[in-house]
Amino acid sequence: MNRTPLVAGNWKMNGLPDSAAELHKMIGALKGGGHCDVLVCPPFPLIATFVHDSVDSGIGIGAQDCHFAEAGAHTGDVSAALLAAVGASAVILGHSERRADHGEGDALVKAKAEAALAAGLMPVICVGETEAQRDSGDAEATVLAQLDGSLPDSAGVVVAYEPVWAIGTGRVPENSDIAAMHHAIRQAVVGRYGDAGRAIRLLYGGSVKPGNAKEIFAIEDVDGGLIGGASLKADDFLAIVAAA
Ligand code: PGA
Repeated sequence: MNRTPLVAGNWKMNGLPDSAAELHKMIGALKGGGHCDVLVCPPFPLIATFVHDSVDSGIGIGAQDCHFAEAGAHTGDVSAALLAAVGASAVILGHSERRADHGEGDALVKAKAEAALAAGLMPVICVGETEAQRDSGDAEATVLAQLDGSLPDSAGVVVAYEPVWAIGTGRVPENSDIAAMHHAIRQAVVGRYGDAGRAIRLLYGGSVKPGNAKEIFAIEDVDGGLIGGASLKADDFLAIVAAA
């Protein structure tokens, strides 16, 4: 199954309006590229201008969260419909920082994914074990349970495997551990969606850098990456895109 790789940048709570300079650098370098899909997910207030700036560039702009409801009395939240209306094409859901900071559980992530799909956004659903769960041999069971609870009813999603202990730490699992987890996730999505599960892109995330991206992306069933820290600087991000 040929899957177009995806490299997605998760800017988290970083960036100010002048960070558009990094986006412009990425746009300039990727013009006419197209060997893989590229997504940049800045904080909410930057989305609309980033969409405007990246028209026809081949770079998609995404969000880092959305609400599950279409609209209503949810102070501080943003709907999937609004994100789509301002031109976002995707939304990261269930990131471990949201699971930890905001107590988001699998059922909520699933409801958000359904809302995203209904609005025409591509959900990037994040799963991953803590260090304690890996040390006790529960990594795979944890990830598969998160997936089971977080995946929406239809297959139009991307899944990002992000071990919590690898995020922002400079530590990365052994290649064989990434391979084993991605194999297990592939089996799970095929079990759930049938053949459509073979088309789902499985990203690895957690301390992907220019120096390790090529090796990680070469692992079977790794279809690209979700990149945090290294997505903030155009040079690093572009090197990772080139590795995909
Ligand atoms: P990192 O973050 O690349 O800085 O480790 C990845 C993520 O949280 O998506």
